[in-house]
Amino acid sequence: MNPRKKIIAANWKMNLTSSEVQPYLETFLLEVNHIDGVDVILIPSFTSIPKASELLEKNPKVRLGAQNFSAHDKGAFTGEVSARMLRDLFVRYVLVGHSERRQHFGETDQIVHQKLRMAHRSEFRPILCVGETQEERKAGKAKQVLEHQLKTALADSSPEDFANTIIAYEPIWAIGTGCTATAEQASEMHHFIREMIKSLASKEVAAKIRLIYGGSVTPANACELLKSPDIDGALVGGASLDPRAFAEIVKAGCSAAVEVRS
Ligand code: 13P
Repeated sequence: MNPRKKIIAANWKMNLTSSEVQPYLETFLLEVNHIDGVDVILIPSFTSIPKASELLEKNPKVRLGAQNFSAHDKGAFTGEVSARMLRDLFVRYVLVGHSERRQHFGETDQIVHQKLRMAHRSEFRPILCVGETQEERKAGKAKQVLEHQLKTALADSSPEDFANTIIAYEPIWAIGTGCTATAEQASEMHHFIREMIKSLASKEVAAKIRLIYGGSVTPANACELLKSPDIDGALVGGASLDPRAFAEIVKAGCSAAVEVRS
């Protein structure tokens, strides 16, 4: 029996305004109100977080995450948002090291490491994103890249930190391209990550840690991906902007969880 609960997370990226949150949630919640057994996480932009927080306050079904936060506690960091500010709005999950932040905003392995430490200190559940480019995959270096990203990000992590972390395998070539990894490709990489966690932390932590997949997940391919016992969920970008499509993926996660458990 697989003890790991599936996670289905929506990363809205820089889409949907605060006034679009309510209509989205009304449609989405109606679709999923009978669903149980998966962890659903909504990760809107900063400006939409207060509205989402207000609307979800009494709804234990959907948790709130943030796409980014500062590696610093507080102070003269114009334009930054701190972990404490997010906790105040009932944010419990944070993305760390998303490839778009690494690519477009100069987030180095060192910054990713600092943010992961800050996430743990602030009692967030970080979703650490790792993944290789098309060139790296073609050159046969995908696993080497993941190993480096995991080792640098998780350096000095305690067993509790490991256990508290969710890892998202997001191959860069699959993000926003419509070119999703096959269930076999994703499972192979998840298996590799789990083996790495075994050596970096322990067998027990490796058995418990949740490894989710991101990269062009849609209602059409979600079932196939989520059926794999190695894939503990999905981090959904584009398809999560449509509440019905995202609800379909949540339902796929739910049926896959039942199948994997039985
Ligand atoms: P897409 O689902 O749009 O490919 O985005 C994936 C992603 O980056 C989620 O964090």
